[in-house]
This record gives sequence, C-alpha cells and structure tokens, in this order.
Amino acid sequence: MASFQSCFFFFIFIWIFLPQIASSTTICKTSSCGGSQSPPVRFPFRLKGYQPKSCGYPGFDLSCNNQSQTILTLPYSGDFVVEGIDYLGQSIYISDPNHCFPKRFLDNFNLSNSPFQFEAPGNFTFFNCSSNATMMYLYWPIYCLSGDDYKVLVTSTFYTDILPPPASCRMISTALLPFLQSQPVQLIWDVPNCQGCAGSGGDCARENDSSLEVGCFNIPSNHNNGGLPRSVKYGVAIGVGIPGIVCIIGLTCYLCGLVRVYSRRRHPNTELSSISITPQRTMFATGLDGPTIESYPKTLLGESRRLPKPNDNTCPICLSEYQPKEELRTIPDCNHYFHANCVDEWLKMNATCPLCRNSPDGSVLVTPSASSSSSSLSTVSII
Ligand SMILES: *[C@@H]1O[C@H](CO)[C@@H](O)[C@H](O)[C@H]1NC(C)=O
Ligand SMILES: *[C@@H]1O[C@H](CO)[C@@H](O)[C@H](O)[C@H]1NC(C)=O
Ligand SMILES: *[C@@H]1O[C@H](CO)[C@@H](O)[C@H](O)[C@H]1NC(C)=O
Ligand SMILES: *[C@@H]1O[C@H](CO)[C@@H](O)[C@H](O)[C@H]1NC(C)=O
Ligand SMILES: *[C@@H]1O[C@H](CO)[C@@H](O)[C@H](O)[C@H]1NC(C)=O
Ligand SMILES: *[C@@H]1O[C@H](CO)[C@@H](O)[C@H](O)[C@H]1NC(C)=O
Repeated sequence: MASFQSCFFFFIFIWIFLPQIASSTTICKTSSCGGSQSPPVRFPFRLKGYQPKSCGYPGFDLSCNNQSQTILTLPYSGDFVVEGIDYLGQSIYISDPNHCFPKRFLDNFNLSNSPFQFEAPGNFTFFNCSSNATMMYLYWPIYCLSGDDYKVLVTSTFYTDILPPPASCRMISTALLPFLQSQPVQLIWDVPNCQGCAGSGGDCARENDSSLEVGCFNIPSNHNNGGLPRSVKYGVAIGVGIPGIVCIIGLTCYLCGLVRVYSRRRHPNTELSSISITPQRTMFATGLDGPTIESYPKTLLGESRRLPKPNDNTCPICLSEYQPKEELRTIPDCNHYFHANCVDEWLKMNATCPLCRNSPDGSVLVTPSASSSSSSLSTVSII
C-alpha cells in the first residue's frame, strides 16, 4: 500500500509540475487576440503589451483592437487586420479594416521600413471612368472606390497598350502591387528565416535577448506522429520516463487519463502550426507556352452550369457569367475556374493564377496523374 501511496504522490507531483517543465522548454507561449478568427501569434511576431520584446523580432509587433482583431501597423501605411499567418510559408495575410484595400493602395501604400514584401507583385494602373463606361475584358471594377457618376477600374499595366481602356477613362496612378482581386493581401518575409525550424516542428526564437540571431528549440525527436503537443511530450519524457514505468502498473489508467486530459486542455492551439494556404514562392517572369496551357484541366459546362464551387458563376477575367456548353479551365493547385479562352490569354502572358497568384508547380505537370487528368475533357453535371 505504501508503494501505491508514493506512486500517487509522485503523479500528483508530476501533474502539478508538468506545466512548468513544459513551459520552461517553450521560449514564449503562443498568444492570440482572443477572437474566434484570431490567428495564433508566435515568433517572429509578438503581441505588443502582452509579450516581452524578446518574444518577437523587430518589425513584427502586432496588437489587438477592441474587437479582438489582430492588427499589423506598417510604418508608412497604417493599420491592417491580420487574417492569417502562415509560419511555414512565412506569409501574413492582411485586409483593410474599412474593406477597401485598393483605396489604401491609392493612398500611397508603401512597405518601406517593414520586413515585408509583396508576393509576386505586378504593375497595376488605376483608371477613373464615367459610370457608363462598358465593362471590359481584363479591366476590373473597384466598387468600393466607385461612385454614382464614376467608376474606378484597374488593370495590369501590361495590358494598357494591347487593350486600351474605355474612352471615358482617365488614368489615376500606377503602382507595383499584388493582384488586387485576391483578398486578403499576402505579404511575405525572408528575415528571420524560421522555415526550416517550423518544418521540423521546433520553436523558432531569438538566441538571447540581446541577439537577433535565431535558433530552433524543442525540436521533437519524431514530429510526424500526432497526439500530444511536443512540449508536453518532452516534459513527459524527462519527468515521467523511468520512475513512471515503475508506477504505471498500479495507476496508469486513471492518472494517465488525467495527464492527457489536462495537457490537451492546456495546449489547444499548438497544432495550428499553419493555415491551409499553400504558398508558392516561385515567380515566373514570363507566360506559359501553348502545350503547357493545354495540359491544364478543362471542363465542359453541362446544362445545369453547376460548378464544383457553386458560388463562382462568373468568370473573374472577362466578368461574364458561365453559360452551358462553355469550356472552363482550372489551374493546377489553385482550384479557380475561368473561361478557357479568357485564362489562356492570361496564361500566355503571366504564369500565375490571376486570382490567387499561385504558380502552377512545373513538377505537377509531368506526373502521370496530372497529365492524364489534363488530357481528358470532363463534363460536369448534366442533370
Ligand atoms: C473601438 O475603438 C474605436 C477607436 O479606436 C472606437 O471608435 C470604437 O467605438 C470602439 N468600439 C467599441 C466597440 O468599443
Ligand atoms: C515610403 O514613404 C516614406 C514616407 O512618406 C518615404 O520616405 C519613402 O521614400 C517611401 N518609400 C517608397 C519606396 O516609396
Ligand atoms: C513595373 O514597372 C517598372 C517601370 O516601368 C519596371 O521597371 C518594372 O520592371 C515593372 N515591374 C514588373 C513586375 O512588371
Ligand atoms: C473620379 O472622378 C470623379 C469625378 O469625375 C471624382 O469625384 C472622384 O473622386 C474620382 N475618384 C478617384 C478615386 O480618383
Ligand atoms: C457616357 O457619359 C458621358 C458623360 O458622363 C457622355 O459624354 C458620353 O457620351 C456617355 N457615353 C455613352 C457611350 O453613353
Ligand atoms: C547572444 O547570442 C549571440 C549569438 O548567438 C552571442 O554572440 C552573445 O554572446 C549572446 N549574448 C549573451 C548575453 O548571451
């Protein structure tokens, strides 16, 4: 009975001190602004006012507003709402609190003195047109900038020579920007580089408070199996290891249950290592050739016009609705649909998806499954 008692006290001890063991191996805790949509904040970001300076990297300070939104303040451009952070891809997704990002761009958006850059930007030109200007191929209307008697359009500067704007349009400005139809806007960073660390499941952090060198801590020995968060596994391995085996005989079922339930509750967010957007950092300078474009999956629209994504019933390039029997094309790894003839023109000049700027990965094209699916013309849903 005495051994049961000492075992019991041993586990009580572990149960009380496990959190301390675990957090002493974690440099700074993941934080968040508390809203249901708030992204987890951890190195190189930190929440100003909640976490000490050493938890973050200069230029990566975030704050919370009174609606539990996470805010990024850019040195020359003001506040933006952080919609997501991809730690593995080193991208942050931001939106305009007033829902008109193009207005921010016209008000001299500039990333100087910040660690961020646009992913694959292009030159875009804004036009102010009369409201009766006809909708045109590759000229996208910006409703939040338009008024009753005028309409603001934007296009890739590249097209303005090939395809001049409607006659009533006056050029407002040209700027190097990300693709405006894709919201939220993606910014990327290169320094500090924590990609390898994030990939190995470790915690990236500064070496020490006075250094800007980053290191990788708490790399799990096997980061591929799911289950308990790695910091807890680490604590369990050290603290429970050998003595645990002795006690396990009597008390495993009850107390292991306790430890597990407790540790799950304690680390609800640590598995959210990245949001589900796959970054493509390759930038293609030129467009694609005909055979490559032809190899992308084509779909013949059936009578019901039902698409795999039911809400996309308008081609984002030419802004006209899909009609039965039209051919649509989708770009691998991107899942956006376009009229085949519209996107083919685009792809000849620009090798990225016009909506999400994902570059189709070249290696995808040579795999047998991709090329077989691409050569088949499938018909969607004739009901
Ligand atoms: C939040 O703060 C802004 C000023 O920063 C203020 O105008 C607004 O009324 C506040 N909203 C709430 C819900 O407190
Ligand atoms: C960004 O704005 C600041 C202040 O207005 C200016 O000094 C700087 O030159 C601008 N940077 C770029 C790249 O335009
Ligand atoms: C944008 O325009 C500038 C000036 O015309 C040019 O130097 C630059 O290469 C262009 N950038 C892209 C990505 O097209
Ligand atoms: C566009 O032009 C109208 C007048 O025609 C003007 O009132 C409006 O402010 C202009 N918009 C922009 C974004 O320049
Ligand atoms: C469009 O409106 C302008 C005045 O705002 C007028 O001068 C022009 O003739 C109109 N164009 C068409 C095609 O109706
Ligand atoms: C901090 O880290 C840097 C580089 O890793 C090292 O050179 C420096 O001595 C460290 N400083 C302290 C106070 O430990």
